[in-house]
Amino acid sequence: MRVLISEEKIQAKVQELAQTINRDYGNRNDLEDNPVLLVGLLKGSFVFLADLVRHLTIPVEIDFMAATSYVGTQSTGNLIILKNLNESVHDRHVLIVEDIIDTGLTLYEIRERLLLESPASFEICTLLDKPVKRHSAVPVKYVGYTIGDEFVVGYGIDYNEQYRSLPYVGVVEGAVEGAEGSDRE
Ligand code: IMP
Ligand code: MG
Repeated sequence: MRVLISEEKIQAKVQELAQTINRDYGNRNDLEDNPVLLVGLLKGSFVFLADLVRHLTIPVEIDFMAATSYVGTQSTGNLIILKNLNESVHDRHVLIVEDIIDTGLTLYEIRERLLLESPASFEICTLLDKPVKRHSAVPVKYVGYTIGDEFVVGYGIDYNEQYRSLPYVGVVEGAVEGAEGSDRE
């Protein structure tokens, strides 16, 4: 395993992201009545969300969604929801928390779908961004680290369900580029 982003660097970045989020949402006067709804995308975001939320000082609620996207014949609508949110996001301040964005397809589809419910606001926060293979443009307000076209694991992110528990982000040596068999969730 080659360490790409150390535990210390990740923790520093998570704090920095939380401070920015606290600042951005902090001057809204409706958060006491309408807390920010953090939507963690399972499974990969569970570690990031758990660390991030402990640095947030704004009122928040937490929900999770599990979805997988596939490249079909249509440009949109290729989303399978494995676990939906417990409640509608209508009039909610939605902040999506994602582990890594690659092609952008999953988030594009989720965004389209949730915007239909008319949330009060909608933003995306991702720990890692891999813009090289992006083909579905999706506006991401909060980005931790931008990385190259490498298949990474750790800090919630898996290869064949392995390595999620690593406290750092690394590259499996000898792993094939764009490895098959990894969950897209
Ligand atoms: P997208 O729809 O191509 O943006 O897919 C994003 C999802 O693919 C992420 O939430 C991950 O679950 C998975 N993914 C993308 N890149 C990697 C990687 O480098 N390692 C492990 N999973 C990845
Ligand atoms: Mg994911």
